Amino acid sequence: MSQESRRFNVAVVGATGAVGETMLSILIERNFPIGRLVALASERSAGGHVAFGDDEILVQDLASFDPAGIDIALFSAGGDVSKAYGPKFAAAGAVVIDNSSAFRYDDDVPLVVAEVNPEALKRRPRGIVANPNCSTMQMLVALAPLHRKAHIERINVATYQSVSGAGRSAMEELGRQTGALLNFQSPEPERFPVQIAFNLIPHIDDFQDNGFTKEEMKLVWETQKILGDDSILVNPTAVRVPVFYGHSEAVTIETRDKLGADEARALLEAAPGVEVVDERRAGGYPTPVTHASGKDAVYVGRIREDLSHPRGLNLWIVSDNIRKGAALNAVQLAELVAAER
Ligand code: A2P
Repeated sequence: MSQESRRFNVAVVGATGAVGETMLSILIERNFPIGRLVALASERSAGGHVAFGDDEILVQDLASFDPAGIDIALFSAGGDVSKAYGPKFAAAGAVVIDNSSAFRYDDDVPLVVAEVNPEALKRRPRGIVANPNCSTMQMLVALAPLHRKAHIERINVATYQSVSGAGRSAMEELGRQTGALLNFQSPEPERFPVQIAFNLIPHIDDFQDNGFTKEEMKLVWETQKILGDDSILVNPTAVRVPVFYGHSEAVTIETRDKLGADEARALLEAAPGVEVVDERRAGGYPTPVTHASGKDAVYVGRIREDLSHPRGLNLWIVSDNIRKGAALNAVQLAELVAAER
């Protein structure tokens, strides 16, 4: 078969979920060379359909699906599903691109941001590649070019994370609670530990022994692994906010070499996957709703030097957590795999 006509049998695991459905639309948008597309979910959704471009694709039950013949499997159905089925797909010959945290910290599983460390994807002895957590993903698309120039020693980051990062049921809860409160009814938390509508929750994922949450520790572990430098210090606080799509991050970096705001802005303007929106006027900065939602780029604004540190720099980083933070990067990794063949 000629290089031009090579097509790939692709499985999307979690195809009915918030990330899975976006994977399907991004595969179409980017004209990924699909041979056969298989949509997989749990037994409860099997028999239904998902949109794939102009087609409706039958959703099949993952538990009874035979992965033989699948070239690339995009997993986004949670860590337990990835652990149970990812190795089976890899053993059947698929390259597994996993959006969960199940394998991210394993030494023999590369953790790859397409714009930052694409070369890491080539060494995948288990046939599994991990997609980073959404918050790390957008942060590193913006910080990697600054790190290459001035060497980042420390990162202080507070995240403002939208509810879509917690899946479809979390988005429904924000909508339901908002409607309830506007109708003078009680909000009744189910998916989140406390009310999310008109509120902020400084708690994402499980608490760890050190007092940080797992979502916060992901920013530490994944930054060090992707940048290949365990000496980079990261001090994170992760907060859930009542926004549907788009995570925002207030980031302060301390660099070994002085990096001025103008130099950083120029580096970011030339960086792949980054759009600088940094005008010092009302609305001259990115927000999840006005810029990120439904878009591919990582938007950076509010670039200014830290008043309290001679080599400190502040940035505001916003991106669609479902797209660049999850589905888009997974498809970009699939493109890198496809380009190898
Ligand atoms: P299902 O529709 O059958 O529940 P989200 O993160 O938006 O909630 O989406 C989670 C995705 O993972 C959905 O597509 C969901 O499918 C899928 N999923 C959850 N549990 C399983 C499972 N045990 N086997 C296969 N898919 C699962």
